[in-house]
Amino acid sequence: MTRGFVHSPSPTRVVFGAGTVASVAEEVRRLGGSRVLLLARPRHAERVAAALGELVVAQFDGARMHTPVEVTAQALDVLKSAAADCVVAVGGGSTTGLAKALAVRTGVPQVILPTTYAGSEVTPVLGETENGRKTTRRSPDILPETVIYDVDLTLDLPVPTTVTSAVNALAHAVEALYAPEANPVVDAVAVQAIRGIARSLPLVAANPSDVDARSELLESAWLAGTCMTSVSMGLHHKLCHQLGGQFDLPHAETHTVMLPQVMAYKEKEAPEALARVAEALDVPDAASAVYDLVHSLGGPTSLRELGLPESSLDGIEPASVLRAAWAGTRPEGAPDLSALTAQVIGSFDETPDERLKQLVTDLVRHLHHFAVHNDLTEDEWLFAIDFLTRTGQISDDKRKEFVLLSDTLGVSSIVDALTNSRSPLTTPSAVLGPFYVEGPPAMEQGADISGGLDGEPLWVTTEITDTDGKPVPGAIVDVWQSDKDGFYDVQLPDLDGPVLRARFVADDQGRLEFWTILPREYPVPEDGPVGQMLGGTNRHPYRAPHVHFMINAPGYHKLVTQLFVKGGQYLDSDTVFGVKQGLIVDFPKAEGEPPAGREVTGGWRRLDYTFRIGR
Ligand code: BEZ
Ligand code: FE
Repeated sequence: MTRGFVHSPSPTRVVFGAGTVASVAEEVRRLGGSRVLLLARPRHAERVAAALGELVVAQFDGARMHTPVEVTAQALDVLKSAAADCVVAVGGGSTTGLAKALAVRTGVPQVILPTTYAGSEVTPVLGETENGRKTTRRSPDILPETVIYDVDLTLDLPVPTTVTSAVNALAHAVEALYAPEANPVVDAVAVQAIRGIARSLPLVAANPSDVDARSELLESAWLAGTCMTSVSMGLHHKLCHQLGGQFDLPHAETHTVMLPQVMAYKEKEAPEALARVAEALDVPDAASAVYDLVHSLGGPTSLRELGLPESSLDGIEPASVLRAAWAGTRPEGAPDLSALTAQVIGSFDETPDERLKQLVTDLVRHLHHFAVHNDLTEDEWLFAIDFLTRTGQISDDKRKEFVLLSDTLGVSSIVDALTNSRSPLTTPSAVLGPFYVEGPPAMEQGADISGGLDGEPLWVTTEITDTDGKPVPGAIVDVWQSDKDGFYDVQLPDLDGPVLRARFVADDQGRLEFWTILPREYPVPEDGPVGQMLGGTNRHPYRAPHVHFMINAPGYHKLVTQLFVKGGQYLDSDTVFGVKQGLIVDFPKAEGEPPAGREVTGGWRRLDYTFRIGR
C-alpha cells in the first residue's frame, strides 16, 4: 500500500557536544541578539551567565510546570522593561515552556540549553495552563531558533529525574511510530531513539556521571523530540496532558506511569508499531519491557503513588488504561529473563580457552533470545529436542543426517564461505557434501569416468592456476558427480563401482581433460527428520545439477567446490544453498570430432573452466 506523507524538516539549529555552553554568546549574536533575558534555575544560571557575559540584561528564575499564564505575564514584564531582544533558557521542560510562551507573544528569538531529556526544545508545541485548564497550541513561531545540547549540563541531573525524563523522551519516539503522519524519516529516527534510550538509560542510572552514556541518552532524547515535530499527539500525550492539567500531576512522572499502560492498550490497535518498538528494545513484548525498565530503575509505576485518588479518574477514557495506571498493574507479557541469561553466561567466566568461552556464551545468548523472542512453548521445545534426537538416531558413518541438516539450513555454506572463500581472487568454494569417498580411483588424462553409464557425453577441460593466472602443474584433482538420473554410485547398490568419481593429476601446464556425462539435479535423502523439515516447510529437496571438484597442490589452500550447469533446474533454490554466481558455467553442446579418440553417437557437450587457487 502506498502511504502518503508530508515531510517538513525542522529549521531549528542544533549544536551538540560537551562544553558547548561556551558557544552560547556566539549563537545569540548569530540570531542578531544583543540583549538577553536569561531564564534559568540558579543551579545552571551562573555557568550560562558567565558564557554570555555582558549580553545578559535580565534574569528570571520563576518558570513553573505546565507554563501557567500568570508566570508568563511576570516574565513578560521583565523582558519588556529590560528591552531584551533574545531569550536564552537553560533548564528542563518548564523553562523551555516559558521561553516558548514569551517568544510566541513577542517574536523574540530563543536559544535553549536543555538540562533534561524532555525534548520539548525541538517541538513547535506549547502547553499552557490558565485556571487549572491546559491548552495546547502548535505554531512555527513557537519553535526555538537554536538548541545547544551540552552533555555537561546533564551530568548532575538526579537519577529519579533522569529516569522519568528519559521515559518522557521514549514516549515521543513510541507515539511517533503509530502516528498517522509518520513517514520513513520519522520511523527511522524513532527506532534509533528507542534503541539509544534503552541502551543508555540503565547505564546512566548505574553511573550518573558516565559521560558517554549521558551523551547517548541526550542524543537519543533529541532524536525522540524531533519525531514530535512531524506528528500530532497520540493517545499517550493526550492523556498525560489531560491528567497534568486537571490534577497538576508532575509531568515526567505521569509520562513514566502512563507509557507502558498506553503501549499495552495500543498493542491491539497498532500491533506493527508496537512490534517495531519491541524489536528496537530487543524484547518479546514492548509494554511489559518498558514497565520492567521503569520498575528496575526505581521509577513510578502507578498514579496512586503520585498521590491521585482513584475516584478522580472517573469519566476519563479509556477506563481500562486509567484503572491499570492507577493501580500500577504490570502489562501482561513475557517475564524479564535477562538476569537468567546473564547468570548462565556468567557460569562460563572461568573457561580457560578464550575461543570456547566466546562460542558458548554467544550460543547461549542467541538460544535464550530465540526462546524469549518467540515466546517458545514447552511443547515446541520438546518437539525440537525429539527432532534432534531422531536426527542423531538415524545417523551412522554413511547416513550423515546432522550434516544434511546443517546443509539444508544453510549453515554448512556459511561456515564454508567464512573458512574458504575469503578472497575474491580465488574460485569460490562450495560444500563437500556427503557423497565424497576418500581415495577415488586414479585415472589418466583423457579417460572416461562414467564407466559406460548412460548419459549425454561431456568433455571437460580445466586449467588450474594461481591467483596471478600462472599454471599450477601437478595439482591433484578429485572429481565426483551424479549420473543422468541424479544418483551417486554409493546410492546404487547393484552398481559395480566406483563410477563417476576419479583422481587426476594435472599436467605440467596445470591442465586436465577427461570424459564424463552430464550430471542432473537430484533430491537429498527425504526419509528422515530433514525430509520432515523440508516437507513441513513446503521446501523441495533438490540440488541443482553439478560436478564436484577437490583440488590439492603443495603450498596452496585446498579448494573444494562444484560447477553448476547453466540453465539447469533449481539453480535459484538449491536445497543446500551451495550455488554461487561464479560457479554457474555453460556446458554447451559441442560441434565436430569428439576428442581423445572417443566415438559418440548423437550429441555431446563440453565444459571449459579455469580454477584459481590461493596460497
Ligand atoms: C552434494 O552435493 O553431494 C550434497 C551436498 C549437501 C547435501 C547433500 C548432497
Ligand atoms: Fe553433489
